[in-house]
Amino acid sequence: MTGFKIISAGRAVPSRRITNDDLSKIVDTNDEWIRSRTGIGCRYHCADGEDTLTLAMGAARRALENSGLSKDEIGCVVCATISGRYATPSTACLVQAELELPADTPSLDVNSACSGFVSAVTVASGLLEISGKKYALVIGCEQLSRITDMSDRSTCILFGDGAGALILEKDESVSLGAYMGSDGSTAIVADGVNYPSSSIKMDGKAVFRFATNIIPKCLNETLARAGKTLDEVDWVVFHQANARIIDHCIKKLAAPAEKFYQNIDHTGNTSGASVPMAISEMWDEGLLKEGQSVACVAFGGGLTWAGIVLSVGSKK
Ligand code: ACO
Repeated sequence: MTGFKIISAGRAVPSRRITNDDLSKIVDTNDEWIRSRTGIGCRYHCADGEDTLTLAMGAARRALENSGLSKDEIGCVVCATISGRYATPSTACLVQAELELPADTPSLDVNSACSGFVSAVTVASGLLEISGKKYALVIGCEQLSRITDMSDRSTCILFGDGAGALILEKDESVSLGAYMGSDGSTAIVADGVNYPSSSIKMDGKAVFRFATNIIPKCLNETLARAGKTLDEVDWVVFHQANARIIDHCIKKLAAPAEKFYQNIDHTGNTSGASVPMAISEMWDEGLLKEGQSVACVAFGGGLTWAGIVLSVGSKK
């Protein structure tokens, strides 16, 4: 599958910063337990007037402004979310309308939980074939606080809200290395969530085992498909589910930890938003240099898993 260059990035977090000490006033937990088990120091929750769409718009506007592109150059909008304002219209259609992108811009949502953003990039590749344009707006956006049981200490400590958006340019000279899989027979995460009436349930130990098994396999398969070794990619961004899962995978891969960007300490687990939020931070910190490559691997509810390799381009 044809690859993509990152042209620009943007992200947004809502206004309520929730520390571990704040959570310890709601459930029986403490900062030391949460940090040592998950690596999370704080996360953000939506306040009144904020939701998945306002976050998606914040991230998308920044990415578009930073790209130097005009609106009619965007060939599709794909949003990864499991917590959109509505089941329909999709968040992507609402973004298309608010950004006033042309009506012939294909726009749709992807629901594959925490693997959503990586899966959405592969969908964008197909949609660009339809629009005949070069640039895709791909967004990961979540209001997980909406589907989190704040009285369940095993899940409420993990999840946060946020959005990340990338503008990607089709690049015929590189391979996306896309690899994806699913196993719908195992409901160890998000066991049948229908908001607003139910919330994410998770078998934490089973998720840990699944994740530490699938992530290294998915990365290796993705790299093989992209025709690269781990040494040849400059960065790896894993879904920010839990720092202990990421650290465990790095050890299993016997890889240098500096290659694996982590920001979960100040975002929590934002599901489909975590990979683009991390890339947006790296972009703003000047860590991504033109010509570098970034492998992205995510796993999530479904169960699902997905990997791609993106290259780093520059603003037009
Ligand atoms: N604060 C304090 N104590 C807690 C908390 C908490 N927030 N949550 C659970 N405990 C207690 C338990 O009740 C238990 O007490 P007990 O021994 O008296 O019964 C003890 O801590 C140990 O509980 P475990 O569930 O065994 O804790 P574990 O060390 O496995 O850590 C965790 C739990 C962090 C959830 C771990 O299983 C994990 O990291 N799993 C992966 C989950 C994950 O990352 N999910 C991401 C979401 S899914 C996705 O992104 C795709």
